[in-house]
Amino acid sequence: MALALLVSSSCLPAFSCQRKVFRVRAVASEDFAAVKPEEANKVKLGGSELRVTRLGIGAWSWGDTSYWNDFDWDDRKMKAAKAAFDVSIDLGITFFDTAEVYGSRLALGAESSETLLGRFIKERKEMDPNVEVAVATKFAALPWRLGRGSVVKALKDSLCRLGISSVDLYQLHWPGLWGNEGYLDGLGDAFEQGLVQAVGVSNYSEKRLRDAYEKLKKRGIPLASNQVNYSLIYRAPEQNGVKAACDELGVTLIAYSPIAQGALTGKYTPENPPTGPRGRIYTPEYLIKLQPLINRIGEIGEEYGKSNTQVVLNWLISQDNVLPIPGAKTPQQAEEFAGVLGWQLTDDEINELRSLASEAGQPIGFPVERL
Ligand SMILES: NC(=O)c1ccc[n+]([C@@H]2O[C@H](COP(=O)([O-])OP(=O)(O)OC[C@H]3O[C@@H](n4cnc5c(N)ncnc54)[C@H](OP(=O)(O)O)[C@@H]3O)[C@@H](O)[C@H]2O)c1
Repeated sequence: MALALLVSSSCLPAFSCQRKVFRVRAVASEDFAAVKPEEANKVKLGGSELRVTRLGIGAWSWGDTSYWNDFDWDDRKMKAAKAAFDVSIDLGITFFDTAEVYGSRLALGAESSETLLGRFIKERKEMDPNVEVAVATKFAALPWRLGRGSVVKALKDSLCRLGISSVDLYQLHWPGLWGNEGYLDGLGDAFEQGLVQAVGVSNYSEKRLRDAYEKLKKRGIPLASNQVNYSLIYRAPEQNGVKAACDELGVTLIAYSPIAQGALTGKYTPENPPTGPRGRIYTPEYLIKLQPLINRIGEIGEEYGKSNTQVVLNWLISQDNVLPIPGAKTPQQAEEFAGVLGWQLTDDEINELRSLASEAGQPIGFPVERL
């Protein structure tokens, strides 16, 4: 994720772009119990008014050439990403997570994930004007970004790339080295100006989370979410107080890398480890340690007629107050995510998987979590 520090500037100057801006229909203000069956799968994000699907789709890999896609983005991959978007909508998953740094133009051959998501939304809305899409994006706390004004400015650039007039959830991507008070002020400004429906943070420790919650509360703004690395094999949020604080404060924990970047799906083995930067985390040695867990996940999945991927995402959803956002590169992957909902592992299975995962040990995480 080193290249996460590069920002796309495809849409400057702020908010003066020529693209047609679409109003993505707000998903917060309706009587959901009465509307459609899939509304039952929606949850309120923290104390905000925003309701989103029980599982979202991560769009980091879309357009990216720094971590994903074997450093190469092409038309075939773009079509697969678009199909992943469309299948998600078709199957009732309407919450998408992107960031201004995903697919930064400064990375060779990359295309901005926000621009791609915006294009997919636009094309879908041309066919189905009433389609509901909830968009989450993120502010990059880069060291040279100072003061509250930098947040609204960055947000307007994101809106421009996305081609929409407001986002559903705006998150501070990671804590800055400095300037965090100003970023929280800016987040509040974005909310008060009606540019976002809900605000969240990401990679925030328990202390930072509590401080952010209190600061926003003074302005009457609920902190909706904290997006952190959380999966069956990366359970730092259970150990460092973040999950407990989220539960106590009523802040939704959005789980990123929820299938451990593919390592929990059973697709990668010691003989067939992932390529690229992922291969440095999920090494053959680590994948050997994972095998007993992967085998048991497979056995449990067979009992339910579910895949490994569906079992590990269901494990997360079974924890109260957790909303996973697995990344989908293809329509097949998106289709599999839709099968995560509508059933539930038993408490015994949840506990058994947690203890087997402990035996395998934890892979390395994203260093900004410790800022
Ligand atoms: N806030 C943050 O700092 C932060 C950090 C990381 C991620 N995120 C967010 O969280 C989202 C998800 O995290 P992530 O992309 O790191 O990891 P992830 O969701 O755990 O893994 C996604 C990858 O797993 C593979 N995969 C997906 N579905 C599969 C299936 N059904 N079977 C087998 N393999 C499958 C795909 O890669 P292959 O097909 O190449 O194996 C896919 O790109 C991101 O897109 C982003 O929105 C946020």
